[in-house]
Amino acid sequence: MSESDLPVPSVPNARDAVRALRPSQIREVANAGFGVDDVLPFWFGESDRVTPAFIRDAASAALAAGATFYTHNLGIAPLRAALAQYVGELHGSTSPDHIAVTSAGVNALMLAAQLVVGAGDRVVAVTPLWPNLVEIPKILGAQVETVALGYGEHGWQLDMARLLAALTPETKMLLVNSPNNPTGWVMSRDEQRTVLAHCRRQGIWIVADEVYERLYYADADAVAGTTRSRTAPSFLDLASRDERVICVNSFSKAWLMTGWRLGWIVAPAALMDDLGKLVEYNTSCAPAFVQQAGIVAVQQGERFTQELVLDLKASRDHLTRALSGIPGVDVKAPPGAMYLFFSMPGATRSLDLCKSMVREVGLGLAPGSAFGPQGERFVRWCYACDTARLDAGVERLKRFLAQHGAAG
Ligand SMILES: Cc1ncc(COP(=O)(O)O)c(C=O)c1O
Repeated sequence: MSESDLPVPSVPNARDAVRALRPSQIREVANAGFGVDDVLPFWFGESDRVTPAFIRDAASAALAAGATFYTHNLGIAPLRAALAQYVGELHGSTSPDHIAVTSAGVNALMLAAQLVVGAGDRVVAVTPLWPNLVEIPKILGAQVETVALGYGEHGWQLDMARLLAALTPETKMLLVNSPNNPTGWVMSRDEQRTVLAHCRRQGIWIVADEVYERLYYADADAVAGTTRSRTAPSFLDLASRDERVICVNSFSKAWLMTGWRLGWIVAPAALMDDLGKLVEYNTSCAPAFVQQAGIVAVQQGERFTQELVLDLKASRDHLTRALSGIPGVDVKAPPGAMYLFFSMPGATRSLDLCKSMVREVGLGLAPGSAFGPQGERFVRWCYACDTARLDAGVERLKRFLAQHGAAG
């Protein structure tokens, strides 16, 4: 038989679950901006500032000292100890046996999902939500149901009755991200208590994405009597370390280390052997010199983080004031994270609106629909930059609205 007699192979495709994943709408807007010379990008969730020098120096020193080898799957012992100390100061006694180092928050979310859910399992997620949380369980074949926050006079609010009704005994896992990306909503201590009690009764795992826990602007709920302040309410404050609660965290936000890919998980000690296997088969470990820098961030970065939070709070207030003066814009300053999620004329088709804004005036915002259908009517603006840049963005927004006859 000659080669030309062989059957023509069909077009190679990824698995159905992978093909069904939603592509990033933020990326779609960024693509629309290619070719536009002067774009002010507020669409991604990161600061425009570089990681502080003392952390970069620690990584350089670790590299110079030869920290270039594989490490333990769960992270180097001094980093696990430093994180246990840090988590303990914020949320109560925690041992290194409950800590696993990950390759940032998104890898931690994947690992948590791989630990708990499989094909056909029911997952409930509180939305609007950063898309990765909703899409990751789908890669594993799970079914994700969403419970939407409501938007009203007091900003974003959780309808507890609806959430509890969705958390049926068949539910395997609840995904909560608080402080929330994109809305800045923060789940209150009382709400956490209610959800934890319900999930305990039903045997549901809680995966709490707390990567923005330090970016919290209300002092009222700060953990009193510790050297670490301004931390959002955490499931770790209420749960024992050995129940069905997995807490995901990251170095990306509190120490401006997005590009380093370093994070951690707090989970029951009984999971750690299995978690170690999953780390082995996903990434094997986080880079050794990055982990060394992580120790320095955790142990010496407290003052930096507290100053960062004050800067972010000032930026949040500045942008909220500027936007609230614009006719048709409905904006409220939320208690956490680093985004304003607001409605404006044209946002009922937020993807089209954001593409037009980037093409016409070089303003890069994220469409609300990127965070689920519940996000439609809104756009997201990351305010982690200096106020001059925010002002320049606001001018562009006004220009856009004027051009479209909507600025009054
Ligand atoms: C809600 C949420 N969780 C997790 C992450 C993961 O961040 P990283 O992978 O950089 O740690 C992000 C990043 O923006 C986020 O917004």
